[in-house]
Amino acid sequence: MRDYEVECIECGARFSREDIVYTCRKCGGLLDIKYDYSEIDTERVVKAKGEGVWKYRDLLPFAEETKPVTINEGNTPLYGCDRLAKTIGIDDLCVKHEGLNPSGSFKDRGMTVGVTKAVELGVKGVACASTGNTSASLAIFAAKAGVPCYVLLPKGKVALGKIAQAMMHGAQVFSLKGNFDDALRVVRVLCEEEKLYLLNSVNPYRLEGQKTIAFEVAKKLDWEVPDRVILPVGNAGNISAIFKGFLELKTLGVIDSIPKMTGIQAEGAKPIVTAFKEGKAEIIPEDKPETIASAIRIGNPVNAAKALHAIRDSGGVAESVTDDEITEAQLMLARMEGIGVEPASAASIAGLKKLVRMDEIERDERIVCITTGHLLKDPERVIKICEAPKEVDADVDVVRKMLKM
Ligand code: F0G
Repeated sequence: MRDYEVECIECGARFSREDIVYTCRKCGGLLDIKYDYSEIDTERVVKAKGEGVWKYRDLLPFAEETKPVTINEGNTPLYGCDRLAKTIGIDDLCVKHEGLNPSGSFKDRGMTVGVTKAVELGVKGVACASTGNTSASLAIFAAKAGVPCYVLLPKGKVALGKIAQAMMHGAQVFSLKGNFDDALRVVRVLCEEEKLYLLNSVNPYRLEGQKTIAFEVAKKLDWEVPDRVILPVGNAGNISAIFKGFLELKTLGVIDSIPKMTGIQAEGAKPIVTAFKEGKAEIIPEDKPETIASAIRIGNPVNAAKALHAIRDSGGVAESVTDDEITEAQLMLARMEGIGVEPASAASIAGLKKLVRMDEIERDERIVCITTGHLLKDPERVIKICEAPKEVDADVDVVRKMLKM
């Protein structure tokens, strides 16, 4: 059994592994999975065989014999993006495209671990609130595990592809009259009272899966970490998870520095950016978050405390970008690098552009942007921002005349 503790990040209270608990019963703080790193064989981590999330099972909270609920998540490509780098004015840019996970987003990394834990605990069902991707991913893993799945989505606020996935994979889908923060509030109480297993990123096991993004980035770069990792921030789980991943590698002596964790939010939903800029330890929730990047339309991010810690401790920054900047970045990625992402993911590139413009990022920094979700998640947005197909007669000359060359 991999030895670990479930520990409160605020007061250090510890909870038993069998205890189903999401936040500290003493102080309400967020929980973290802690290992005894002196027991972990660094060589085994560095030389680990296999692919994806479970390749790193020495740093996951399971017994050797646990059978994972897996659909080959992780192992996503890290693309060199020279054309885009040149246009933005930097030397070295790579994009890790998490949209190429089985469900089309990084959530699969967290769900393979979270649903494996759910099965181990013998829960009667799993549930989440979601801006879309979490629900799509949970529905898929719950289907694979044969566990009932309940998802609460903010009505009219979720991209089409994501709802389609949750429906197709057999989740009970609720369209909640409210926003994501309302849905999360409701599902947390529901899970407590109905004994369903909550798989939002407040669940610390989710973050254990997502931290493998850091392992894959470091391994791909021969354990020479980039200077900076930039990613979109919504409920703030992913930035916290990736920071933890790098921290663990440093603790094990595999890497010798931590990238500057740089979180990007949309202008209309930026409580973490505001807290960061004002030097506050806590966020002030926003009542009416609004952005075209529906995945990160979140006013009260549950992992804010962890994310602010990750950003500050690594010497990173938090910055916001407008919807227009997001759209421009989405088009640039698609048309210069062939990488199709949903709007929230493009926030990372938009943030990079803005920070270079502001001289916050130096030209020679080695940068990795994480693109979190696939283009096909949100086809309606594409229809809105791209030129519509031209209707033509089935005649060569007619088509020829209309070609733009
Ligand atoms: N990018 C995409 C595509 C997302 O779906 C999310 C979160 C994020 C970024 C932000 O990640 O929450 O860890 O800071 N989506 C959640 C959901 C909230 O319900 O699918 P985070």
